[in-house]
Amino acid sequence: MQYDLKHLTDFEEKVIGPIQSDEALLIYSLVQVIRPEVILEFGFAKGHSSRNFLAAMSKNCKLYSFDIKKESEDIAKTIIKDNRFKFILKGQEDFIPSDIDNNLIDITFFDASHNTDLNIITFRKIKDYIKKNGVILVHDTGSWNNNYNEKVRNTEGYYVNGYPFPKGYFLNKDEYIHQQGERKFVNFLRENYPEFHQIHFHSTNTFRHGLTMLQKSEKLEI
Ligand SMILES: C[S@@+](CC[C@H](N)C(=O)[O-])C[C@H]1O[C@@H](n2cnc3c(N)ncnc32)[C@H](O)[C@@H]1O
Repeated sequence: MQYDLKHLTDFEEKVIGPIQSDEALLIYSLVQVIRPEVILEFGFAKGHSSRNFLAAMSKNCKLYSFDIKKESEDIAKTIIKDNRFKFILKGQEDFIPSDIDNNLIDITFFDASHNTDLNIITFRKIKDYIKKNGVILVHDTGSWNNNYNEKVRNTEGYYVNGYPFPKGYFLNKDEYIHQQGERKFVNFLRENYPEFHQIHFHSTNTFRHGLTMLQKSEKLEI
């Protein structure tokens, strides 16, 4: 078996916005293991996570990717020539089943608004279309350690290339919460939909955005 990982040469670990290269590798492996037929992505941006999904997907799998930016649509048209892919120019919260051709979903990737309320609205709209073993991935649920671009923080905030990162706060001296909205969202799911079990792929041993994986888990029939 040959694995197509060429695209990862364009990916980075010290990057803000797209998934990190190690996270991409994890997601790539997940796709290989699950062999999904339908992937739904919220947050295309410049297409890093889409390209990663496409590289891992089988030829029969479909990827539907939402973004609100016209620029993302233009990028999608330019860089992705693949009939397994559909770009949808609209907000995640406006999802309707016909956007994904009324298909059921194997993997849903949340990496768009970073807003708890919009994620909850979106989740409620998609949840009945998730397959029995469907997986949800939520990006940016982790915390940043003290180690991005070497000199990045002071007591007022987390600095990226000299500029304070606007939304976050320090949980403790080693953990900077960069997307509180995503963390609140997974906590909401934990409290309200406990049947979706969660694993956080978080680390403060390296600079890591953090990925939470959820799957509706039932006692195995034997
Ligand atoms: C962090 S970027 C996505 C990165 C991408 N998943 C990757 O790994 O390359 C977030 C994207 O979500 C988009 N976005 C923001 N609010 C949105 C919403 N309500 N619905 C859909 N997309 C949204 C932004 O325009 C931006 O391109």
